[in-house]
Amino acid sequence: MNEPTETQTRTPTDGVVDLTLDGEIAVLTVNSPPVNALSAQVREGLANTILQAIAEPRARAILLICAGRTFIAGADIREFGKARTGPSLRDVLDIVENSPKPVVAAIHGTALGGGLETALACHYRIAVPSAKCGLPEVKLGILPGAGGTQRLPRVVGPERALEMVAFGEPIGGTAARVAGIVDELAREGQLKEDAILFAQRVVAENWPLKKVRDLDNRVAATRGRTEIFDKFRKANARKFRGFLAPEYCVRCIEAAVNLPFDQGMALELELFQELVSGPQSAAQRYVFFAERQAWKIPDVPEDTPTLPVAQVGIVGAGTMGGGIAMNFANAGIPVTIVEARSEALDRGLKTIRRNYESTAKKGRMTQEDVERRMGLLTGTLDLARLADCDLVIEAVFEDMAIKKDVFTRLDAVAMPGAILATNTSYLDVNEIASTTTRPDHVIGMHFFSPANVMRLLEVVRGNRTAKPVIATAMQLARKIGKVGVLVGVCHGFVGNRMLAQRQREANRLVLEGAMPWEVDRVLYDFGFPMGPFAMSDLAGLDIGWSRETSRGETVKEILCERDRRGQKTGAGFYDYDEERRPTPSSEVEAIILDFSDRKGITRRPISDEEILERCIFPMINEGAKTLEEGIAIRASDIDVVWINGYGWPAYRGGPMYHAEQIGLGTILARLRDFEARLGPEFKPSDLLIRLVTEGRGFHDF
Ligand code: 3HC
Ligand code: NAI
Repeated sequence: MNEPTETQTRTPTDGVVDLTLDGEIAVLTVNSPPVNALSAQVREGLANTILQAIAEPRARAILLICAGRTFIAGADIREFGKARTGPSLRDVLDIVENSPKPVVAAIHGTALGGGLETALACHYRIAVPSAKCGLPEVKLGILPGAGGTQRLPRVVGPERALEMVAFGEPIGGTAARVAGIVDELAREGQLKEDAILFAQRVVAENWPLKKVRDLDNRVAATRGRTEIFDKFRKANARKFRGFLAPEYCVRCIEAAVNLPFDQGMALELELFQELVSGPQSAAQRYVFFAERQAWKIPDVPEDTPTLPVAQVGIVGAGTMGGGIAMNFANAGIPVTIVEARSEALDRGLKTIRRNYESTAKKGRMTQEDVERRMGLLTGTLDLARLADCDLVIEAVFEDMAIKKDVFTRLDAVAMPGAILATNTSYLDVNEIASTTTRPDHVIGMHFFSPANVMRLLEVVRGNRTAKPVIATAMQLARKIGKVGVLVGVCHGFVGNRMLAQRQREANRLVLEGAMPWEVDRVLYDFGFPMGPFAMSDLAGLDIGWSRETSRGETVKEILCERDRRGQKTGAGFYDYDEERRPTPSSEVEAIILDFSDRKGITRRPISDEEILERCIFPMINEGAKTLEEGIAIRASDIDVVWINGYGWPAYRGGPMYHAEQIGLGTILARLRDFEARLGPEFKPSDLLIRLVTEGRGFHDF
């Protein structure tokens, strides 16, 4: 080991963790960009430098701090599923916790997962207020595996720990100070200075070596009170449905309460290992990287210039316009909303206020926040008021003639250089762009309903959309907290184009022998939040329907004609009670039986397996077509679309990932069966055939 030299001189150890001496304080600096993840090299470096600091006679306390943008953001996710090299994190943390010299963690950026676990193994913690502390492992389908489930409850109490571990949401530095995770707050931007002062105080005042493992008060208070855990499980059963990790997190925290520390640690390790080697975590880790990959656009490099967006305009204050406006107000960007009719404008603004107030009522926002955000919104009936907007998003009716008219007028009023975006679900963005003098500044920004909630934004690139316009839309997506996925122009883009396949098959299955609630149950059990028929009831069956033109030609038309138009009328494919709980409807069953009969269809029993395959395999086939046509950049983008826009269960990794788990050969064979039996809709895409022939996967394409 190298000798550390006096004040601020660097002593390279492993390169990624440096040791310097600042008076009596040994300063360990982790420097492993981008996020100081605990790779084998970092773990090794930490173990070495801690031992070195312990052995250094001049050092009386040890400060653990990180260079760059963040404290340790967790284990290195890329190492999961591979054979371990170097010491385990648990071994490193044992060295830290058992150090005879006090170890202080100094936190900025994010102390997440293994990062927070490292901090909790230290004897003291200091953080800047902007720091974030959390155990987000559950989002990767795992649980904190280096003592997080045992140490955190000993600090914050089991109830808070349940929230933090089973949901994985981090808390801010100030909240962490209140919760006791952090012992002291440092001044923003002065972490190192303040942390050294803090460590000097620990030395001067001879503070004890406080080991979190020995704290008992918070967990002892809950011992034997199993109802806390039962209540938590029950309250969150819907959110956790299908996922293994949240339940395992709860079990570990129960163990923290009821078992000695070492036994709790043993259970944590056992459950961690089960999860990390299982299919759910593999899928969720894949999704983590897929979402980060989606930002990367081969021909629009990261240094592409972007356009400033300080003022946004929205045309249409309906279901989508209102939700879209909220996204920008939430990000502090002023929005002007234009409507055609004053009643629609009033209704739209009222809905926005109601949404904010309901968030405030739940304690997730203050009344001042509500007013501040409402203060950023201006409603008007005058399109000319959009003259000073840098970006205008059109969200009027889904009708090409109306959209073209709006874009022609927008083009005339918007300033040169302003971006004109459409929220169309299906229409041709190139055709819309062609009505303007600036097709290079026209783009699709396809939000999902409810637009203030759903994370997905499909950014639709037209033939002539300029690269800085694409880069700006993607950057804005990030700014408003969405996952942006760039797609090309086609009917329905990536998401709705694939959804149409599922919808067609769901409808056909109902005519052939299944009932809507059977189809829904199969997809619900697969992991979707609801099936296609429940979804139609929620959206309203009368979208695009009118009594004048209705001819009873589909089951849906017949339902609308009978005023069964979905949840809003108390009946649709299902009957609904006052709490909008659905039950299968005998009336609908009779309508379907009669309809099949009139169509000359001999109904037959349909297995759950067939329902699932017929709903999902054509979607995968369509996804393959969007890939070969270049509409989607990569298979993982399609998965990101489906997970964030349509409720595909994250633990199944998205349709294209799922296809590879099943095996593309199996999908191809089933599609060929269906094609022979049911028709050309199932014709396998050329890409799928090619990949199977070449023994490759979507992800090699
Ligand atoms: N391991 C490996 N790579 C990681 C990583 C990690 N833990 N965290 C981030 N990265 C990579 C990203 O893939 C990305 O790589 P790229 O540039 O090649 O695409 C790069 O670091 C930057 O990440 P982001 O784009 O996400 O950067 P942001 O600034 O937007 O966010 C962050 C930073 C909040 C730290 C975010 O990256 C994040 O949430 N990371 C994951 C945190 C996490 O889940 N930690 C727990 C890990 S599991 C664990 O610790 C197990 C333990 O209990 C034993
Ligand atoms: P909506 O009917 O709720 O709202 C449309 C609003 O536009 C109405 O308030 C109407 O008064 C207003 N409007 C019509 N013409 C106008 C004009 N010339 N100038 C100003 N305002 C005008 O419709 P919704 O559901 O919000 O859909 C809007 C767009 O968003 C459509 O293109 C739709 O396809 C798309 N979309 C809808 C989704 C949904 O789930 N509802 C999801 C994603 C996209």
